[in-house]
Amino acid sequence: MSHDAIQYSDDKATRYDEVIAEILSVVAGETSITARYATASCLLTQAFAPVYFWTGFYVVDPLKENELVVGPYQGTLGCLRIPFGRGVCGAAAANGETQLVEDVHAFPGHIACDSRSNSEIVVPVFDKDGKLAAVLDVDSEQHAAFDDIDKEKLEGLCAKLLVV
Ligand code: SME
Repeated sequence: MSHDAIQYSDDKATRYDEVIAEILSVVAGETSITARYATASCLLTQAFAPVYFWTGFYVVDPLKENELVVGPYQGTLGCLRIPFGRGVCGAAAANGETQLVEDVHAFPGHIACDSRSNSEIVVPVFDKDGKLAAVLDVDSEQHAAFDDIDKEKLEGLCAKLLVV
């Protein structure tokens, strides 16, 4: 399948609508969860770099209860494993709620995979039975890069990402 880069709008909310439509169109009918996560991390990065510095998924390890393991991502080397409750991803996994962090250095237990990261948003991804499957982690070198628009749009994407 060929894919031509699309021209995104300058307005952030519209840009999200465009890229989310594109992601869902590319993965329509795709049964591989890895392919779905890889497509989302790639196209979100294409649409939002350089604000997005690291974009990817930490998935719930089926063999280890309460532990996330790195999945498809774009960016610099991410740490491999994150226990539930540890750092921003671990907090999202433990309480099932989006974490919007303006200053990661002020977040208790923040895991600094790359010290250039200054702010981040982490959104839980649930499967069709409502069980936590993964978290989507987006980091930025900018301070306070994310707001309620990012939260609303990324939560909308994550709600649809595992619906085949
Ligand atoms: N910042 C994350 C760790 C993962 S990476 O930055 C890729 C956290 O504290 O959960």
